[in-house]
Amino acid sequence: MASARRVELTEFGGVEVMRLVTAELPAPAAGEVQLRQTAIGFNYIDVYQRAGKYPLPSPTGLGHEAAGVVEAVGEGVEGLREGDRVVYMNAGIGAYADRRNVAADKVVKLPEGIDEVAAAAVFFKAMTAQYLVKKTHRVQPGDIVVVHAAAGGVGQILSSWAKALGATVIGTAGSPAKCETALAAGCDVAVDYAQADWVRQVIDATGGRKARVVYDSVGQHTFMGSLDCTAPFGLVALYGAASGPVAAFEPELLNKKGCLFLTRPSVFPHNADTQTFRANAADVFQAIEQGAIRATIGARYPLEQVAEAHRAAEARATTGAIVLLP
Ligand SMILES: NC(=O)c1ccc[n+]([C@@H]2O[C@H](COP(=O)([O-])OP(=O)(O)OC[C@H]3O[C@@H](n4cnc5c(N)ncnc54)[C@H](OP(=O)(O)O)[C@@H]3O)[C@@H](O)[C@H]2O)c1
Repeated sequence: MASARRVELTEFGGVEVMRLVTAELPAPAAGEVQLRQTAIGFNYIDVYQRAGKYPLPSPTGLGHEAAGVVEAVGEGVEGLREGDRVVYMNAGIGAYADRRNVAADKVVKLPEGIDEVAAAAVFFKAMTAQYLVKKTHRVQPGDIVVVHAAAGGVGQILSSWAKALGATVIGTAGSPAKCETALAAGCDVAVDYAQADWVRQVIDATGGRKARVVYDSVGQHTFMGSLDCTAPFGLVALYGAASGPVAAFEPELLNKKGCLFLTRPSVFPHNADTQTFRANAADVFQAIEQGAIRATIGARYPLEQVAEAHRAAEARATTGAIVLLP
């Protein structure tokens, strides 16, 4: 029997609750593949789940995304064999591991040109950007789009993809240096939302027209400003809560701000069935191959230093993606 080193939690809280344990790993069951994972993607949802803000059962693993090599194939699995390089982002919690069994229909084979570290850096985040620019709002040439936290992992990919689709992209970020990163990622304008008048600066950058869609992953600190930056009949896509959850408010406010639409989407239901998941993954790989998006790796940590990775993310000390290396 193989063995696996993985992060396990028996309680929720600070970074110290993540413990690295070694355990036996059974052969893959029917419909599963066993992966030797070579790169793990950190995503901000891992922080919410570690801290207990998005509850998980206990004990639990952590992490949604990894890339690696198929080491063994369970009964009935078709289309995958030993040695295939694959990536996944929705195969159940527990990606923080060096070896793992996952359902074969939740993994996709990596194209030749995409290495495993780049795949783990980009896949979950790009699958998020994919539904945000293609489904939540189908970005059209000429759209004015606002992307908050535009120097972050999802933010950079979302900005460059919206730009490639012909939008004018206004990014926000938490410092002048991060604004430079947002511009390099494809934003036409970058606004430092640490400044008190950031909403005015964003509206000015739209020439007073305001945005067709605001992609808000920051939540509490930005949400009311997002409503003010959105054009009449426009959409606020609230897809995260890095600064904390948005407080309850009267729906009448959406009327007062210009008959706005509000949605709170998630990447998982957008990729729940295998056929849609594979089609979306193909769209992501094509966007990478065409240069519409790229993997920008801000930091790499050995899996043993997972606590450092979480600390850096929570301290807003990162740009681009964080990758954990088993
Ligand atoms: N709904 C979905 O389908 C979905 C899927 C994936 C990710 N998400 C969300 O998308 C967001 C980005 O995820 P990511 O993994 O790419 O992370 P990330 O953007 O690399 O990191 C989060 C960023 O949020 C900003 N931020 C603002 N206020 C913050 C605060 N009080 N504490 C910490 N960060 C703060 C920081 O950028 P500045 O320093 O520039 O402010 C920080 O770098 C997260 O909110 C995540 O939950 C949602």
